[in-house]
Amino acid sequence: MDSNGDGFGDLKGVTMKLDYLQKLGVDYLWLTPFFVSPQVDNGYDVADYRNIDPRFGTMADFEELAKEAKRRGMGIMLDMVFNHTSTEHDWFKRALSGDKEYMDYYIFKDSPSDMPPTNWESKFGGNAWEYVPALGKWYLHLFDKKQADLNWENPKVREELKEILCFWKNKGVSGFRFDVVNLISKADYENDNEGDGRSHYTDGPRVHEYLKELVGDAGIEDMITVGEMSSTSLDNCIRYSGESEHELSMVFHFQHLKVDYKDGDKWSLMPADLKALGKFFADWQEGMQGANAWDALFWDNHDQPRALSRFGDDGKFRDKSAKLLAGIIHLMRGTPYIYQGDEIGMTNTHFHDITRYRDVESKNYYEILQERGLSEEEAITVIDERSRDNGRTPMQWTAEANAGFTAGTPWIEVVNNFGRINAASQIEEENSIFSFYKELISLRKSHKIISDGTISFDRNMPEGIISYTREYEGKTLTVWGNMTENEIQAECKGGVDRGDILIANYEDAPYTKDDTIALRPYELVAVLDK
Ligand code: GLC
Repeated sequence: MDSNGDGFGDLKGVTMKLDYLQKLGVDYLWLTPFFVSPQVDNGYDVADYRNIDPRFGTMADFEELAKEAKRRGMGIMLDMVFNHTSTEHDWFKRALSGDKEYMDYYIFKDSPSDMPPTNWESKFGGNAWEYVPALGKWYLHLFDKKQADLNWENPKVREELKEILCFWKNKGVSGFRFDVVNLISKADYENDNEGDGRSHYTDGPRVHEYLKELVGDAGIEDMITVGEMSSTSLDNCIRYSGESEHELSMVFHFQHLKVDYKDGDKWSLMPADLKALGKFFADWQEGMQGANAWDALFWDNHDQPRALSRFGDDGKFRDKSAKLLAGIIHLMRGTPYIYQGDEIGMTNTHFHDITRYRDVESKNYYEILQERGLSEEEAITVIDERSRDNGRTPMQWTAEANAGFTAGTPWIEVVNNFGRINAASQIEEENSIFSFYKELISLRKSHKIISDGTISFDRNMPEGIISYTREYEGKTLTVWGNMTENEIQAECKGGVDRGDILIANYEDAPYTKDDTIALRPYELVAVLDK
């Protein structure tokens, strides 16, 4: 929400909407980075970790937000981007001027000016090294060239980062998300002959040691901490959040969101492989449980296209599929995260014009895809499906101009379905997507079986059906979700009594005395004690 009409959402705007979040049942608010930044990557390029970018407000605005959130029983979680800084950060500027102490804050390597030290690729396209003629050296940037990777091997860097955590802790922050934090320990600086370089720095050799040190020394063990883990493994996630090492409270991992990447390539489209989706959920949920490790449950965030447009149907079955997707993850084992707009069924942008996109990654890949031989039309079709901007358009508050987000011109266009899809029309509506989310949140708070129960998946379901059972103190809760637009018969031993249905997304939820249940398009059913 933009409070001052400059077109950017801001801290005061968030404070204005705390009552809305409270109504939904939110306990914690994760804010993406609002620190001083040249905004090459929407704030994930931080130039000053202790100050707020004026476009988002002032420190006084933040303190007011923290106070008002606390008054409503809500914690604030900040997003710490510690794998890299902006090249506008004072440390990097000093490094560029040749100050040896600060050069050691980053990863500078010698190599001839026409030969990057390794063949690693930046996650945003192109080589991951940038040459600095004045120094005769290259620096590493796993993301944009204006995001220089920090050298975690240097204990001074680690000290600086701990102090930043303490600074925000003292401001009343009670949780942290750590951005791409499993990339901080680089194994070596060798060419990657099989891939894009990620095997040389993903879940690297000292990452567990660094995380323990960071959390321990900053004294944030009792806070909610979540690590964003890029291309990670189950074994590592068990170490990050499991009882034996317990470095963080929980982890974000992404396997379930790659099931529509053809040959593992985000920029190659294919229909979602629903069998793989079900298997990833099953393997990771059960695997994490086995080690008492904890998942962050989510479909969407600021880096993902809307799951509703991707795995659901944002047309005819929008209402049903939005509720289905919500139910599938909210009834699982872990901590659910709702990304702004999911709770009202917001959709992808459908912009179909590169000038309407803002994201650096989308703009780069629009060019790269054409270099790879795609036509403009083919390239924009891929961008429409995969752009991170799909999740970044303004929150649709009302049916008024700019969806009520700003009195000025929004920094990125509002999706032009806000007349139909907006919060105002759903808040008081009993059968709305918003009310469904609200109910899921409240059920989790009233039913220990949801928050604390064990989970086991039925791996023999027909393709397209995700089904799992939660257990707690002798009770069971079984969930079926039909991820397709077809009716599918699924097994339900002993039938389903109407009275046992805890939550469902069709009003006339099915009941049956048979051992099978006919699940309609995008139907979700959760049954207690069956
Ligand atoms: C994370 C963020 C993403 C950002 C990247 C680099 O993946 O979620 O938005 O571009 O890290 O900081």
